[in-house]
Amino acid sequence: MSTLVRRGLGLGAYGASRRIGLVRAEVRVGALGGRRRWRADANGRWAPPSDGAIVSVIWVVGEARVVPHEGPVLEPSTFVGLSPRLARIAACVLPGRPVVDLGTDHALVPVALLLAEVVPRVVAIDRSATVIAATRTRVRDLPLAERLELVVGDRLDAGGPVDAATAVLAGFGGDAIIRALDRGPLDGISRLVLQPQLDLARVRRYLPRRGLTLVDEHLCEDRGRFYVVMVAEPASPAPIGAHSLDLADVLYGPHLRRRGGEVFRRYLAAERQRTKSAKAAAVAAHVDATQLRELDARLAVIARLWVEL
Ligand SMILES: C[S@@+](CC[C@H](N)C(=O)[O-])C[C@H]1O[C@@H](n2cnc3c(N)ncnc32)[C@H](O)[C@@H]1O
Repeated sequence: MSTLVRRGLGLGAYGASRRIGLVRAEVRVGALGGRRRWRADANGRWAPPSDGAIVSVIWVVGEARVVPHEGPVLEPSTFVGLSPRLARIAACVLPGRPVVDLGTDHALVPVALLLAEVVPRVVAIDRSATVIAATRTRVRDLPLAERLELVVGDRLDAGGPVDAATAVLAGFGGDAIIRALDRGPLDGISRLVLQPQLDLARVRRYLPRRGLTLVDEHLCEDRGRFYVVMVAEPASPAPIGAHSLDLADVLYGPHLRRRGGEVFRRYLAAERQRTKSAKAAAVAAHVDATQLRELDARLAVIARLWVEL
């Protein structure tokens, strides 16, 4: 079966992954008894479904996607002056290409990217004129010349037609991020680096509807809190549909699940605790049954992921 799966993808994902190395591919394989997921790592090596029961999966070899990674991969350690969360965000931009940072606040990420000479130019936008004025004063003496443009606004094109490869929207709520992406424009943007503080599931569901694929996610722990940094790119050739993300993917991220690890385990433990507390509060407040069912479904997902770790 492994051969059949590979042959099914031979002209696309697998061929590409063998040819150029830095390519990630993901294939979902529907099985008669449920879904099984085959994975290819950066070297094109495939991992089989965990239980090895693969006879029944021949009938679909679908939803393949290949996500080429452009340019060198940055590491958070490049940005020594930044917090772990911000360093992770900075490490996700496309090096060598302009950036637009919406909701920039103190412009910490733009300044770090420019001082490290990772990107040539950043347009840093914030809807607060006070914030932009304070940031302008703070960066006045830095050797940034014309490379940092500070703009008041709440759209990616607040500084004029967007001429950026990476758009960063970080540190504010998922709903606000969705509204900003709806306003766009996203033309010409090759990558979005998103770090919603809330409503992560809503963002994951939204991306395919906006023609974007969630190509990677990073989890970082920063002063006892967990943050998820999402990397999304215009879908090629077509967005992986929201329907292809199961509840566990939507809640806890397909890439985070795939990567697992100790931080993910601690994140899940914290989520379990948080959800249990929310359930106890909901029971005490006699909320309606739908809300309780949602919390129970979340707890069931956490229990399943815990076993898979
Ligand atoms: C908590 S700060 C995050 C700053 C930085 N991006 C980070 O990740 O640390 C949120 C900033 O986003 C700005 N903001 C929130 N929604 C915005 C929007 N729709 N457009 C522009 N700025 C926005 C706020 O004014 C605030 O300065």
